[in-house]
Amino acid sequence: MSHTNTPVVEIKAAVKHYRTPEGQAVRALDGVDLSVGANEFVTLLGPSGCGKTTLLRAISGFEQLDSGSLIIQGQPMNDVPPYQRPVNTVFQSYALFPHLSVGDNVGYALEVRGVPRKERDTRVGEALEMVGMGGLQKRKPGLLSGGQQQRVALARAIVNRPALLLLDEPLSALDRHLRQSMQRELKKLQSELGIAFVFVTHDQEEALTMSDRIVVLNGGHVQQIGRPEAIYDRPANAFVAGFIGESNLFKARVSVVDDQHAELVSDVGDTLRVRRGELQLNQQVQVLLRPEQFHLDCPGSSDSHAWLEGVVEQTVFVGKDFEVSMRTPQGSQVKAVVRDAARQALQRLHAGETLRLWYASQAAHVLAGGAR
Ligand SMILES: Nc1ncnc2c1ncn2[C@@H]1O[C@H](COP(=O)(O)OP(=O)(O)O)[C@@H](O)[C@H]1O
Ligand SMILES: [Mg+2]
Repeated sequence: MSHTNTPVVEIKAAVKHYRTPEGQAVRALDGVDLSVGANEFVTLLGPSGCGKTTLLRAISGFEQLDSGSLIIQGQPMNDVPPYQRPVNTVFQSYALFPHLSVGDNVGYALEVRGVPRKERDTRVGEALEMVGMGGLQKRKPGLLSGGQQQRVALARAIVNRPALLLLDEPLSALDRHLRQSMQRELKKLQSELGIAFVFVTHDQEEALTMSDRIVVLNGGHVQQIGRPEAIYDRPANAFVAGFIGESNLFKARVSVVDDQHAELVSDVGDTLRVRRGELQLNQQVQVLLRPEQFHLDCPGSSDSHAWLEGVVEQTVFVGKDFEVSMRTPQGSQVKAVVRDAARQALQRLHAGETLRLWYASQAAHVLAGGAR
């Protein structure tokens, strides 16, 4: 029995090795812990080869873990075959049967399980309705667009009411515009169905807009799990900071501390100012400043603000915003995004001009460890 507070999926210390044809061992999953709530939209995000598909396949049962435990709805699953798990998967390739109608594609799993015709038709109709494909039961998949085929694949995956839907890069074959509208539809579908989604993408924007929580993976390791804002504002390490959003990352050492603030010197000699927090003199850290955290003028009291000065290298107008690239005398490249509202300051944004970029010291995020 599942309860609202019980996670749908609990994975502990999951390890999976592969052996390449050349005989080398690949650690696709290297001790992954993850739990997914009953009505949660969780996204696995990371570069190609980081273990996303392997983790999904372990949950669905198409792959066996070398070690670790997998519990779905309170039941240990390690020895349960895929077709007995309350889980379905939607793939990037829709994998519909071309010779079967849309309705028969969606109803196939119900038919195999011996669900009577009448109930089958009702449930197929409902599932197609949910994905906005009502009335298209009789069509053959070949006559549908890519987006429509993906909707049919979705209907097929939800028709037998799984507790959990796994989606492996389901939108990456669609063009940008369709992908964005499908993102919103998927999110809506998930909340209407009230079931958990584990969604895979390598696209950080997609992960940020769709997820309740994001799991950032790299090299089979969980780098960070958190809500999108937390992952963006307070990345746990340099990998997460660099993978999600644009970032200016400085390796730096704490050189001065007072009650409120700390001053740091970057490895090339830029001076930075941050909130003191727990920082100790001489501590090695990394400082993250997002491009949109910079301003052309000091926005408040200068005590809590700081600046970086340099020479403008390039300015690109991207509609509403200017993307500015500046280089400090020490040689650091700093990327800033300046709002169109500051257009009167356009002069300052010309290549070769000296520019001062202001930021609030408390907005700078300090990451532990400046290890090279
Ligand atoms: N069947 C397999 N045999 C050998 N290596 C594999 C196999 N499947 C995946 N791998 C390797 O495991 C790692 C993780 O792969 P995968 O989970 O597919 O990553 P992702 O889905 O994040 O791109 C990669 O290094 C990949 O090459
Ligand atoms: Mg994959």
